[in-house]
Amino acid sequence: MPEHMRIIVTGAAGFIGSHAVKALLKSGHSVLAIDNLNDYYDSKLKNDRLENIGKSNSFEFEKVDISDHIKINKLFDNYKPMRVLHLAAQAGVRFSIENPFSYIESNLKGHLSILEAVRSSASVQHLVYASSSSVYGNDTDVPFSENARADKPASLYAATKRADELMSESYSSLYKIPQTGLRFFTVYGPWGRPDMAYWLFTKAILESKPIKVFNNGDLERDFTYIDDVIETTVKIIEDKKIRDGHRIYNIGGSRPRRLQEFIDLIAKACAKPAICQNFPMQPGDVYRTSADLTKISKDYDYQPRIDLEVGIPHFVDWYREYFEL
Ligand SMILES: NC(=O)c1ccc[n+]([C@@H]2O[C@H](COP(=O)([O-])OP(=O)(O)OC[C@H]3O[C@@H](n4cnc5c(N)ncnc54)[C@H](O)[C@@H]3O)[C@@H](O)[C@H]2O)c1
Repeated sequence: MPEHMRIIVTGAAGFIGSHAVKALLKSGHSVLAIDNLNDYYDSKLKNDRLENIGKSNSFEFEKVDISDHIKINKLFDNYKPMRVLHLAAQAGVRFSIENPFSYIESNLKGHLSILEAVRSSASVQHLVYASSSSVYGNDTDVPFSENARADKPASLYAATKRADELMSESYSSLYKIPQTGLRFFTVYGPWGRPDMAYWLFTKAILESKPIKVFNNGDLERDFTYIDDVIETTVKIIEDKKIRDGHRIYNIGGSRPRRLQEFIDLIAKACAKPAICQNFPMQPGDVYRTSADLTKISKDYDYQPRIDLEVGIPHFVDWYREYFEL
């Protein structure tokens, strides 16, 4: 059994956050969960995820915006966490074209507010935060290595995520705060995100509606099943060797898959055909993502275990059950 820890998790009502909270509680830790429950997508799903975490004396929830640094500081002062898992963000590449300022509030101001709270805290020993594969943009050699410059983001979302990494780097060098940034590659699974392709495609196929296929399906993604992400994130949080400085890791799937292959697997799991409508490439999208997993495999023995062939049916089964279809 790992040593018991008090952990603050931001973005706890989100897809990855709610799974992380459940896993940390199961591991015997205490969690203060933070989320502003915004309506970027249906907040009923966020409330249902919190309910699914279940009641426990080790679990508290605070509805608060991470960009409110005064409130965040107070929560840190009172709770005295040993670890922080910072996942709250305005996610999504396409929405950053419609609503750019929400990315500045949540991803830049919000990230700074967490860094400041950690800096003032005497208890936090390690800050683990979410970055994204989107920082690699369209001109990084594949597979994407953490050593790539990643200085040509294709969207504002990617630019804010890369800026978070640079802000973390500066705080780590100024204030010696141990930090780990995780570049997630297209995470999917039960309790997932309604704005992501796997959800939109499943919904459309089950409703016999056409699906929008961008760039004629000529896109590749490294898909990562939620359990693989959570297992390794918890391992990093529980890591007792507090490593100095700031490290960044890719967390991806086993291999990039073509969009068409992905659609075929969803259609198979739904036992219905996909009606595909082709659209041009979307602004801000990248052509492919592909993770070099050498670093995370070496330091944390990470090996993605769940392939799309297994993970997609798990998601579709959950979706049908959730919506009683
Ligand atoms: N899911 C993926 O494929 C993926 C890929 C790369 C990176 N990420 C990153 O991982 C993290 C978690 O992503 P997710 O897929 O669970 O997204 P999500 O949108 O489901 O979860 C994010 C949560 O943060 C909350 N939030 C947003 N702004 C906030 C604010 N200002 N104050 C308090 N709470 C706020 C939202 O209400 C939401 O519940 C994000 O940082 C995201 O950028 C996710």
